[in-house]
Amino acid sequence: MHDLEKLITQATADFAAATELARLEEVKAAYLGKDGSLTALLKGLGKLPAEERKTAGAAINVAKTRVETALAERREALRAAQLEAQLAAEALDVTLPGRGQGRGTLHPVTRTLDRIEQLFRSIGFAVADGPEIETDWHNFTALNTPEKHPARSMHDTFYLLDAAGQVREDILLRTHTSPVQIRSMLAHVEQHKHLDVMPELRVICPGRVYRVDSDATHSPMFHQVEGLWVGANVSFADLKGVVADFLRRFFESDDLKVRFRPSFFPFTEPSAEIDVAFMSGPMEGRWLEIAGCGMVHPNVLRFGGVDPEKYTGFAFGMGPDRLTMLRYGINDLRLFYDGDLRFLSQFQ
Ligand code: DAH
Repeated sequence: MHDLEKLITQATADFAAATELARLEEVKAAYLGKDGSLTALLKGLGKLPAEERKTAGAAINVAKTRVETALAERREALRAAQLEAQLAAEALDVTLPGRGQGRGTLHPVTRTLDRIEQLFRSIGFAVADGPEIETDWHNFTALNTPEKHPARSMHDTFYLLDAAGQVREDILLRTHTSPVQIRSMLAHVEQHKHLDVMPELRVICPGRVYRVDSDATHSPMFHQVEGLWVGANVSFADLKGVVADFLRRFFESDDLKVRFRPSFFPFTEPSAEIDVAFMSGPMEGRWLEIAGCGMVHPNVLRFGGVDPEKYTGFAFGMGPDRLTMLRYGINDLRLFYDGDLRFLSQFQ
């Protein structure tokens, strides 16, 4: 009996000394395992005389239960301590203010492009896309630009190099979105070739364009939005109406003067520059050029697969960067491309 008490005390002490669950299981084996001391005592019962066996067996079983209870308590205590430690380590101060999500904003030029698309879609224009690496044919030849036109020079246009590092003359970074006029006409004509009368083509083409140019009002990459309307009786009056109406809606102002000033482009005849003037605000009374336009030149219609005897069209090309500067009162074009968050985050 005395030995059993000692054994229980010893086991309880050994359990208490184990400070980790894995160690506790090892200690348990020394008492309750296959070769443990309590197991050995139970096995030894058979050697006792029959009259002692019963009381000894009962005593050993009581001891075994007490050891098992001590083990279970220690195990529970260690688990609780482990959980406690884990909770302390992963503590979260729910009273701290949140860090916020660093909310992004749309670039001001993107906002302008979205707005332009929305306004033109509302009057039945589709939105088309074209490649920024363009052929010389689409960018110049099909737009009726003469062989020796200054825009074709390397001072103005970025040409691409071939694998040997030689300048290729047939591909370039598009200098304007006008080549999308040609692509749109060719696709439209192909799509409707089974019809006697071609449906009207109404399309705008927003996108990036490239020129060898860089100062406060010129960036080597900038944006344009091309517009094209081709149909049976499209006139210069339609051009004026569409553009003037667009500008008043874009600037949300009826207090806007729009002027068509005679000009020259190889791809239109007649051609004009479009100027706007605000009748109030900081820019009051100043005429600002925002687009070029004109009636599509017959040669350009022909290059687009359209018969100039049957159809006419107008086109325009405007500068959304300039429109954005006017709308938000920004005076340096380079701010758009510096990526400075102090500037960009103002356009929430
Ligand atoms: N492509 C011209 C430019 O980049 C702008 C332009 C002028 C486009 C007249 C047109 C147009 O469609 O009719 O300066």
